Amino acid sequence: MLEIHLDESDIDRELRADVTTGLTAAPKWLPPKWFYDARGSELFEQITRLPEYYPTRTERSILAARAPEFARLTEAKTLVELGSGSSEKTRLLLDALLRRGTLGAFVPLDVSDSALADAVEGLSADYPGLAVRGVVGDMTRHLHHIPDGDNRVVAFLGGTIGNLDPAERAKFLTTLRGVLHEGEWLLLGTDLVKDPAVVVPAYDDAAGVTAEFNRNVLHVINRRLAADFDVSAFAHVALWDADREWIEMRLRATSAQRVRVGELGLTVEFAAGEEMRTEISAKFRRAGLEAELARTGFALRHWWTDPEGLFGVSLAQAVTAA
Ligand code: SAH
Ligand code: AVI
Repeated sequence: MLEIHLDESDIDRELRADVTTGLTAAPKWLPPKWFYDARGSELFEQITRLPEYYPTRTERSILAARAPEFARLTEAKTLVELGSGSSEKTRLLLDALLRRGTLGAFVPLDVSDSALADAVEGLSADYPGLAVRGVVGDMTRHLHHIPDGDNRVVAFLGGTIGNLDPAERAKFLTTLRGVLHEGEWLLLGTDLVKDPAVVVPAYDDAAGVTAEFNRNVLHVINRRLAADFDVSAFAHVALWDADREWIEMRLRATSAQRVRVGELGLTVEFAAGEEMRTEISAKFRRAGLEAELARTGFALRHWWTDPEGLFGVSLAQAVTAA
């Protein structure tokens, strides 16, 4: 079952607003959620299988090791997943909760209707006793559509929280805390600060899949807003920002470009070499994350990582702020 809180006209309205703001700003930027049309979601799945992209396989190994403990600690009746994509790793959690005998419903929420529809179809077939209710929505705007209940756990995996900037992150966590009852849980995956020699190749792989994923946002704008970006004239850039401890993906115009966005009546000039930011992917440290969670009403109860300390999974509980 799919519940739609973002239809085509909402998407068009938001894309118009974001493209107008981002392409008329200096420097130019675009929000990362526009990568994920059907092709973008498929490219992301390819990224997760790349040798350089360590986050997915590392998080999977942590979940595999900790799922029984997670099920015992939370005894979740409802598992909600934000930015769920294929929900592939989430199956480890579902299996453990079903074995524990507490789980009745799974609610994946994603902006990508195609990724969500595929996931819901596969999960409904493989977990016939489980109520699977997919929500097409934006996790920064539609958290109030998470079904009410008791003993809910919200999983937010993959390190996607790092794609929000610090202000968006604080707002998101505060809103999430507001929809949870005291004692309910957040299971949060975060990529950790490490040697840039490991991080940068994960965002600039040899096969060029991440470059294609990055440029996909231009295809989305061309198609949805009748724009004429020459996609091949933009080069993929992945930069480690050591001060802010995040990776920044950008698109660099390899020559001067004039782009017409037909649906907006907008003409945008790019100078040769001009760079436009398309994503940040923040990397975390335990202490900073624990403080950020505490400021927004979550107490970190368990911190799980892999032997190399590449990726962290936090189990935090909604508490009343002191
Ligand atoms: N959780 C999966 C997928 C991560 S990819 C994993 O760990 O592998 C990021 C996912 O978040 C994509 O499926 C994308 O469509 C979704 N997404 C991005 N921005 C979103 C937003 N604002 N609201 C809801 N989903 C979003
Ligand atoms: C979804 N998100 C956590 C990915 C990341 O690593 O920031 C998106 C991504 N961007 C480039 N590669 C993967």
